[in-house]
Amino acid sequence: MTDELAAHGGKPFARELIPLHRSSFGQEEIGELRNCLESGWITRGPLTSRFEKEFSAYLNGDKFALDQVIRDGAKPMIALGMNSCTAALHTALIVAGIGPGDEVITSPITFAASVNVIEHVGATPVLADVHHDTLCIDEAAIARAITEKTRAIIPVHFAGHPCEMDKIARIAREHNLIVIEDCAHAIEAEFRGIPMGAIGDFGCFSFYATKNLTTGEGGMLTCNDEETIRKARVASLHGMSFNAWQRYEGREFLLYDIEMPGFKYNMYDIQAAIGIHQLAKLDGFWQSRKWLHETYCEKLRDVPEIRPLAIRPHVKSAYHLFVARLDLDRVKCDRNEFLTLLLHENVQGYVHFNPVFEFSYYREKYGWRRDDFPVAAEAGACILTLPLFPTMSKDELTSVVGAVKKVLKAVRR
Ligand SMILES: Cc1ncc(COP(=O)(O)O)c(C=O)c1O
Repeated sequence: MTDELAAHGGKPFARELIPLHRSSFGQEEIGELRNCLESGWITRGPLTSRFEKEFSAYLNGDKFALDQVIRDGAKPMIALGMNSCTAALHTALIVAGIGPGDEVITSPITFAASVNVIEHVGATPVLADVHHDTLCIDEAAIARAITEKTRAIIPVHFAGHPCEMDKIARIAREHNLIVIEDCAHAIEAEFRGIPMGAIGDFGCFSFYATKNLTTGEGGMLTCNDEETIRKARVASLHGMSFNAWQRYEGREFLLYDIEMPGFKYNMYDIQAAIGIHQLAKLDGFWQSRKWLHETYCEKLRDVPEIRPLAIRPHVKSAYHLFVARLDLDRVKCDRNEFLTLLLHENVQGYVHFNPVFEFSYYREKYGWRRDDFPVAAEAGACILTLPLFPTMSKDELTSVVGAVKKVLKAVRR
């Protein structure tokens, strides 16, 4: 193997492209999909109900240490199947009654959906800077961002690392704010033994193609209040007082009411058929990603240019992404050039995330400046994500690290 970069005509370090993510499905998902198609009912119905029950059982489990939950009167979470996490976040804001004139605080290091939904309800997004070590929202920055218009906080458990939920819950209680946890990366994560979504008023999960559990597109809204979930169910299906399966299955003639101008946000049984079996494999997937994450950290220990984010000792991370900083003082290129050189070596890295204040819509509308969020701004310029998925082999990981070292050798100062 020569040192010449593939971008300059050399041989790529990895023989074949190592993707950022590869989904894992088996005969279980395929068989359930076939059963679903053959059953004659493919939209919201019995499989969605089963998936909702099994998902809430997974979250509640025996680890639901209620005495530690900060909120008073905490009860087990109820799950409502949605067609995305975005739909879950939007629905949570709607049923929480958040709208024009209200402010909602969230993180700049997130996917745009966490902020877009605030715009969708006509409220104003307010960004609070993040912690340097985890890139999760900083409670002190939340406290500084609160005004008399603040109604809610959307903490994002970035890359599967829980936010400091005890402190966030305390701030929320003090100021009477709703907490909507963005758990898109964090199904398996726990904060001091409490599952994600259980400390806030709502949990919003993503089953997008690259997530820890995937149904292609899909999501779950969780909440521990039955009446709130009923409202969310109505809002997520046109505002109908009951759904088509309830009519199809029942023997009674029923005419539905429209209680509000709702959305078309429901999960359907084709998604649930996949989700049920992905859920059964979740802990195995998590074990694989944990091992890969730790192996990356070990193999990169002697590479000072690449500094992985921290995992704090009191949390269980979901290890959704392997995110590290590229030390720009030690290299002659910027992060995007580095990722381009890596791609030529057949390793697909990416950026999670370009901070929200960098996007033209938000920059122009709110006049947000990098100086307002120094930690997120610094991270936004240098973070990169390396491939991490349950079926990634040790050889693939070794190739990724080898390709990183090869590129670094060429760009090191
Ligand atoms: C942090 C975060 N929040 C929300 C979403 C939106 O999820 P979905 O695609 O299921 O709507 C994503 C998706 O990538 C995400 O990463």
